[in-house]
Amino acid sequence: MACFANLPMISSPNPNPNPNLKASASLSQSSISTKLHFSSQFSSLSPSPLSLRCNQTLILRRFGGRAPSVSPTLVVVASANPNSLKIMISGAPASGKGTQCELITKKHDLVHIAAGDLLRAEVAAGSENGRRAKEFMEKGKLVPNEIVVMMVRDRLLQPDSQEKGWLLDGYPRSQSQATALKEFGFEPDLFILLEVPEEILVERVVGRRLDPVTGRIYHLKYSPPENEEIAARLTQRFDDTEEKVKLRLRTHHQNVEAVLSLYKDITIKVNGGVSKEEVFAQIDSALEKLVKQKKATAGPVAI
Ligand code: AP5
Repeated sequence: MACFANLPMISSPNPNPNPNLKASASLSQSSISTKLHFSSQFSSLSPSPLSLRCNQTLILRRFGGRAPSVSPTLVVVASANPNSLKIMISGAPASGKGTQCELITKKHDLVHIAAGDLLRAEVAAGSENGRRAKEFMEKGKLVPNEIVVMMVRDRLLQPDSQEKGWLLDGYPRSQSQATALKEFGFEPDLFILLEVPEEILVERVVGRRLDPVTGRIYHLKYSPPENEEIAARLTQRFDDTEEKVKLRLRTHHQNVEAVLSLYKDITIKVNGGVSKEEVFAQIDSALEKLVKQKKATAGPVAI
């Protein structure tokens, strides 16, 4: 049986920093009224996640207990611009995800969302989540879903991600994260896997440096800073030691296959063991193809 309700429509994602965006909170912020069609399942509040679409602009979802530690909640999601790209990039520690994201966003103007960067921002802010996250990051383990899942979801919901498209870096890293994303309504167009021989990864990690002013990634040997001024201010990540990268690699190997199996139809495997320009050329040819297909069909496409 179906029922109808008049609900206000949110034309852009909720800027409310509260991760558990409740329907009631959403409604009070809205301005436009629209009619939604509710399924009988929704009205029965079954534990499985449900979605409703209204003219491709609104998704209303109820989440059950499938995404670990994510409490049931009503979420209203403004849909993405159908022409924008939605890309995931994955690979072992130091496989070059962040480096390629710099190049991809420069050309394609996507919103780069890196789970590791979001977590490091929490650590730097000294929040309770940051303190807990650091305990796991220092051991090279995955940070618990109750911290990371909502953090990423909230960033994906921001208006810039919805409008320009997104480039999700280092997320999802487990089957449960992938499942949660799907249940939130986020489906990628393309999943990029960077493949790099393990012996190269350790050297990349220990030589990596970051510019805290520009956010750029450097390597003492492969991508040195342009001048002395930049060189003097470079910093090193707390988990960029040989000992810690081995722990991070183990975690990566434990999880990667489960994630890959969920995206196998849209996965491209890229040789990440060559120069960053050559890696980018491989990725960009897939992205260009995708852009063309999107323009031609103005909807989801197969790779
Ligand atoms: P995160 O920050 O994502 O670390 P990572 O996955 O280990 O990846 P990296 O950032 O180390 O490497 P990258 O692939 O971006 O390489 P980069 O381009 O910098 O995660 C950190 C921690 O946060 C995790 O261990 C976990 O605890 C937690 N976490 C993150 N996501 C999570 C999630 N979803 N769930 C739960 N916990 C999560 O390149 C590395 C170096 O190599 C640089 O110096 C670069 O200049 C150089 N380089 C890059 N490409 C090339 C090339 N082609 N040739 C030569 N050098 C190159």
